[in-house]
Amino acid sequence: MSLMDAARAVRDNAHAPYSNFKVGAAVRTQAGDVFVGCNVENVAYPEGTCAEAGALAAMVAAGQGQITEVAVIADSPSPVPPCGGCRQKLREFGAADVVVTMGTTDGKTLEMTLEQLLPGAFDASHME
Ligand code: THU
Repeated sequence: MSLMDAARAVRDNAHAPYSNFKVGAAVRTQAGDVFVGCNVENVAYPEGTCAEAGALAAMVAAGQGQITEVAVIADSPSPVPPCGGCRQKLREFGAADVVVTMGTTDGKTLEMTLEQLLPGAFDASHME
C-alpha cells in the first residue's frame, strides 16, 4: 500500500463532526514503518488535533523518531497543505529535504519538501 493510500484509509476514521473536514496523514520512518493519524476534533474546538499530529504521536509512541516521507489527504478542491503548527511538528522529526505529498480524495497531488513548506525553520541549531 502506498503512503497516500494509508493516509486515505485512516481518513475514514477521522472525528470531524464540527468542520466536517476529514483529514488523513501517514508518515514513513527511517526504519521503513508507516504510522497513520486522522484529525480528532472536540466540542471545545481548540482541543482538536490534526491528522499529522496523530501520525507523529503514534510514531513516537512506537519508539521511532525519524521520518523520511509524509502524505496528507482530504476532500479538498486542491491538495491540502499541513497547517503552520504541523509544519513545525513535522520538521521536528524530518530533515529539510523530506517530501510531503499533499493529496485530494479525487486524486490531485502536490509534492513539497519540509524546507519549502517551512523555510528557515527554527531548529535545535538555534539553541546552541
Ligand atoms: N486539519 C488537519 O488535520 N490537517 C491539516 O493539514 C489541515 C487541517 C484538520 C484540523 C481540523 O480538524 C480540520 O482539519 C479543519 O481545519
